[in-house]
Amino acid sequence: MDPIRNPYAPGAGQRPPELAGRDRELEQFGVTLERVAAGRPERSMVLSGLRGVGKTVLLNALRGQAVTRAWGTGKVEARPDRSIRIPVAQAVHAAVREVSHRHRDPDQVDRVAGVLKSFALRTQQSDRKGMRWSPPVEAVAIRGRADSGDLELDLVELFGDVASLAGDLGVGIALFIDEMQDIPTEELAALCGACHEISQQGAPLLVVGAGLPHLPVALAASKSYAERLFRYVSVDRLPRDMAERAWRVPAGTEGVTFEDAAIDELYRLTDGYPYFVQAYGKVTWDVAVDTPIRWTDVMQAAPEAEAELAVGFFGARYDRATPAERDYMVAMADLGEDTQDLAVSTADIAKLLDRRPQSLSPARDGLIKKGLVFSGERGTVAFTVPHFGKFLRSQR
Ligand SMILES: Nc1ncnc2c1ncn2[C@@H]1O[C@H](COP(=O)(O)OP(=O)(O)OP(=O)(O)O)[C@@H](O)[C@H]1O
Ligand SMILES: [Mg+2]
Repeated sequence: MDPIRNPYAPGAGQRPPELAGRDRELEQFGVTLERVAAGRPERSMVLSGLRGVGKTVLLNALRGQAVTRAWGTGKVEARPDRSIRIPVAQAVHAAVREVSHRHRDPDQVDRVAGVLKSFALRTQQSDRKGMRWSPPVEAVAIRGRADSGDLELDLVELFGDVASLAGDLGVGIALFIDEMQDIPTEELAALCGACHEISQQGAPLLVVGAGLPHLPVALAASKSYAERLFRYVSVDRLPRDMAERAWRVPAGTEGVTFEDAAIDELYRLTDGYPYFVQAYGKVTWDVAVDTPIRWTDVMQAAPEAEAELAVGFFGARYDRATPAERDYMVAMADLGEDTQDLAVSTADIAKLLDRRPQSLSPARDGLIKKGLVFSGERGTVAFTVPHFGKFLRSQR
């Protein structure tokens, strides 16, 4: 069918034509925003899940809700080995801009801009590499506020000041942090500490995070009270009825329907993983000649969809790994064959590769840093990418 009208959207952070199965989270977050704006005690949200399940898309949708309520919002994408000070300053800057033009007191707005500037200026030279952003030039840095160099203290002061600016307008500030698992441990602890303090003050500022499945563990390891600070939401593959909605609703707006058998087959092939839902939906649409889309169309589309995923979704990630890391993943895939690639034991990997466990640590750590593997439990590892073990086995 007409590829120009193809509604499906495979791609990182690509807004799907129908955001299926996330109503509860959206609704819950709406309540959170209202409660925080009203100064009531409330936990923020942390989304976690495998690659391609729709964390970024959901995070963006939550941000959309905050924007609708006229909150100031900003977003950070954390990177391994990179301090969050400047990215946070950038996000706070964006959020402040969204509210400051409505504020009645220009002196207070200037003061907050000055605090933001002193916060941002307090970076180590090493933290600044590759960072192009410089704080607003017109603002005069306020010395002695948010610039102690202790990230937790500085965040508390910065967050407190921007929250009060938003609070004057009856709204709040929401910061969204994607790939949150990549924040260095000490900084994650500082961020949790600041959120804890800010929520005790009842200040209207929320930090919403998203990351890989071990993010809750990483947060708990950074501060013991992290569990009580956040509401953990596991973002997962779509149940059958929601995947069906993700295919049928967008097609419906184009006047196209599916045979039930086609949906059954699509679900069998994709397991309801959102990225696969979009990828298979897209190819199937292109292959089909007419409505309704049939089982035979899906069968014809499947090899092509699989080939596209092999290059774009799996291959691109595999290519990022070093030879030693690839051997490690192939061993994981071999061991995962009977267990649907649930976590495998690192001791078993060492045994299979006939190596001492410690000698494999660099490969494991490299894979974790590259976001290909995670360790949710001591002594085990699992793929962050759904169907990755199956893909590697198919390459044998
Ligand atoms: N609820 C949903 N319904 C239908 N499609 C979805 C849904 N959520 C996400 N998608 C689709 O899934 C794909 C992946 O989404 P997204 O990039 O948000 O995943 P992610 O979890 O952030 O992945 P990564 O860990 O690689 O960053 C996109 O093509 C998006 O359109
Ligand atoms: Mg993402």
